[in-house]
Amino acid sequence: MRGSVTADATHVFPRFLDLAYPNVERGEGVWLTTVDGRRILDACSGGAMVTCLGHSVPELAAAAAEQAERISYFYNHHFTNGPQERLAERLTEVVAPGMARVRFVSGGSEAVETMVQLARLYHVERGDAERWRVVSPAQAYHGSTMGTLALTGRRALQEPYTPYLADHRHIPPPGRGSDPTGEAALAALDRILEAEGPSIAAFVCEPVGAAALPGHAPPDRFWEGLAERRERYGFLVCFDEVVTGIGRVGSWLAADQLPIEPDIVAVGKALGAGHAPLGAVLCREHVYEAVDRGSREFDLGHTWDGAPLSCAVGLRVLDLLVERDLIARVRERGPRLLEELRAALSGLEIVGEVRGRGYLLGFELVDPRDGESFLPVELDAGALVDDTALEHGLLVTSTHPQADGYAGDQTVFAPAYTSTDEELAEMLERLRATMEDVERRLKERLARGRG
Ligand SMILES: Cc1ncc(COP(=O)(O)O)c(C=O)c1O
Repeated sequence: MRGSVTADATHVFPRFLDLAYPNVERGEGVWLTTVDGRRILDACSGGAMVTCLGHSVPELAAAAAEQAERISYFYNHHFTNGPQERLAERLTEVVAPGMARVRFVSGGSEAVETMVQLARLYHVERGDAERWRVVSPAQAYHGSTMGTLALTGRRALQEPYTPYLADHRHIPPPGRGSDPTGEAALAALDRILEAEGPSIAAFVCEPVGAAALPGHAPPDRFWEGLAERRERYGFLVCFDEVVTGIGRVGSWLAADQLPIEPDIVAVGKALGAGHAPLGAVLCREHVYEAVDRGSREFDLGHTWDGAPLSCAVGLRVLDLLVERDLIARVRERGPRLLEELRAALSGLEIVGEVRGRGYLLGFELVDPRDGESFLPVELDAGALVDDTALEHGLLVTSTHPQADGYAGDQTVFAPAYTSTDEELAEMLERLRATMEDVERRLKERLARGRG
C-alpha cells in the first residue's frame, strides 16, 4: 500500500480530489504513523477534535472488545442494554446534573439534528405548532446533514444544497469585531424576534466556537441577554457542544462556565474519543415532560442509537477522564497553553487573533499587507497551513475560507487532554516552523499578484 493515495489511484470517493491523502496505519498517544513509516504529531485530536485521550488507548480497545464478545449491537427500538442505561445515568448525574434524559446517537450531526427535532417536538407537544424556525449565529458549523447545514449562516458552504435547506435565521457572531459586548448580536436577535417571535422554536449555537471560529467565546452579556429573551419569547436554548462537551474547554460542558443554562445540549466527538462513533442529546426535565404529558413518543432515531458497543466505550471514556483527572488538567493547563501558542506565533505578520479556552485553541490568518483583512479566498491559505504542517510532521485543521464576511482562514489547535508538556512544546515548535513557511509562501504569492 502506498504512503499516500490520490484520487486516480483509489475506489474511495475522497473529499478533495486534488489531495494526496497520507495513508495512516497506526496511532499511539499523540503520534500517527503512515504505512511508509512517516510520523505525524497530532495537535488536533485526530484532526477533528475527537481523540481526547489520544490514539489506540488500550483500556478503550479492551472495553470495546469485552462488549463485542458479549454483544455489540441490537436495535434500541426493541431493547435496551446495561451500557446505555449506565451511560445515561452517568451523563445526567456526573457530566450534566441539570439534565434529565439522554438520547444516544452515532455522531455530532445526528446529535444536532436530533436536538432540533426535539426542540420542535417540545413546542408541538405543547400545542404551539407554529414554532419551527431556528436562530443561530452565522459563522458556525453544526454538521453536514441537510438539517444541520441549514443552521449555519455560511452561504458559500450551503450554496450547492440550498434547495434542500430550511429557511432559518442568523445573527452575526456575538462578540466579534465591532461588537465586543455582544449587544449588536442581541439587537439583531431582537429584530428577528420582534418580526417572527411566534415562529421561533430555538436558538442554536456553539458556546465556544470550534471548526468555524476556533476558540471564540461570546461575552457573558450576550448569554445574559439571550436568557432574558428566552424568558420573554418562549423559545428553547440549544447548545451544540459536539466539540466543547466532555472536557474540551476545561469543564464537562462549556455551559458550566456560562451564565445561562441550555434546555437541550448535543455532545459527540470526545464522548466516544475516536474509539466508537457516539453522540448524545441531553435535555432538561421540562423538555422531557412535554413529551411525557403529550404524545409519549419521540420515535425518530438511527440504527446505531444506544448500541451496547459504543455505549460501553463511552462509559470507559468517562472513567478514564475521572480517574486521570484530565478535565482539571485541561482547565489548569489551558490558559498557559494559550500563552505558549501566542508566544509561538508572535511576530508573524499573517497571524491575527490567537484565542481559545481549555484545549480548544485557534488563530486567524490575516493579510500581511495590512495586518487585519482576511486573506483572499482564492489563496486557500487554510489548506496551505494544513499541507505545510504535514510537511513538518504536524496535524492541525484549518477551516476552508468562505467569502461570507464573518471570518477568514482559521486554524484549530486542539491537542489530546493526555498530551505531555514535552509533546505540547514539540507541537508548538513544529507549528512555528510551519507558520514561518506559510508566511513566506503566502507573501511570494501575494507579490506575484495572486490575490
Ligand atoms: C460544533 C460541531 N457540531 C457538529 C459537528 C458535526 O459532527 P459530526 O461530524 O460528528 O457529524 C461538528 C463537526 O466538526 C462540529 O464541530
